[in-house]
Amino acid sequence: MIKKCLFPVAGYGTRFLPATKSMPKEMMPVVNKPLIEYGVEEAIQAGMNGMCIVMGRGKHSIMDHFDKNYELEHQINGTNKEELLINIRKIINEANFTYIRQHEIKGLGHAILTGQALIGNEPFAVLLADDLCINKEKGILSQMVELYKQFHCSIIAVREVPKNEIHKYGIISGKNIKNRLYQVDSMLEKPEKSTESSNLAIIGRYILTPDIFSIINKTKPGKGGEIQITDALLYQAQSGCVLAYQFKGERFDCGNVEGYIEATNYCFKNIYLANK
Ligand code: G1P
Repeated sequence: MIKKCLFPVAGYGTRFLPATKSMPKEMMPVVNKPLIEYGVEEAIQAGMNGMCIVMGRGKHSIMDHFDKNYELEHQINGTNKEELLINIRKIINEANFTYIRQHEIKGLGHAILTGQALIGNEPFAVLLADDLCINKEKGILSQMVELYKQFHCSIIAVREVPKNEIHKYGIISGKNIKNRLYQVDSMLEKPEKSTESSNLAIIGRYILTPDIFSIINKTKPGKGGEIQITDALLYQAQSGCVLAYQFKGERFDCGNVEGYIEATNYCFKNIYLANK
C-alpha cells in the first residue's frame, strides 16, 4: 500500500567532518555497505519499490552507487568477487530510484516538501539513513507499515532516550493507546533540557499522509530557523491524528563517531560474521 520512501540526503554531515568533506555521510560504510543501502533494504523489505532521493550538491556518488557500473562488472565477471555485487544488483533490479535537488538546506520539513514532486498524492515513508535501525525478524519500516494498514494516519518512530539527550531530538508526548503506541498530543523539536518531561524521542522513520505537504507549506521556520517536520506533524496531530510507535529493534546514530563505531561493531558481529 505504501510504495515510496523518501530519503533526505542533502545535509552536510558536519558532525562527521573531515570524513564527510567530499563524501556524502550516507555513503559512509558500516562494515562493507554504505549506510543508505541499509535504508533502501529496509524500505524494500517493507514492500516499497520507489526510492525518492532528495539530493544536495556533491552527492553524486549516491546516484552512481544505485546504478550499473559496466566497467567494474566487466572486470569481475566470472571471478569469485562477483558475489559481492549480488545484493546491490538485486536492489537495482527491484527498486526504482528518482532524484530531486534541494537547492537550499532549510530543514527536514523543507527537504520533505522538495520531495513532493517525486511522491505525488499518496502516503509515503521517510527514512533518515544516518539513523541505522536493525531488527532481524521484521524491519522498523515493516512494523510501521503494518500499523498504517490498521490506522491510516501519519506514524512516527520513537524510542526512549536518556533525559540528558533530549535536546538532540524531536520529543513527543501523548496518550498510550496500546502496547508501544501513543496518540501524539504534543511534540517539540530539540527542547531545552528543562522544558520537556517526556523522553520519547523521534527516530528517523516516518510514515506520512500526503496532506502533510500543504501543512509544511504553511509551517513557519522553527528551531534553528529551519522548516521543521516536527512542527508540521504537531499541527497534523492537533487537527487529526498522529501516532508514535516505540519500535522493536536496535538503533544507532551513525551521524556521530560513537554511534557509528557501535553500529560497525554490531553489524560486524551480528550480520557480517553471522552470514559468513
Ligand atoms: C531530525 C529531526 C528530529 C529527530 C532526528 C532523529 O533531526 O528533526 O526530530 O529526532 O532527526 O535522528 P536531525 O538529527 O536531522 O537534526
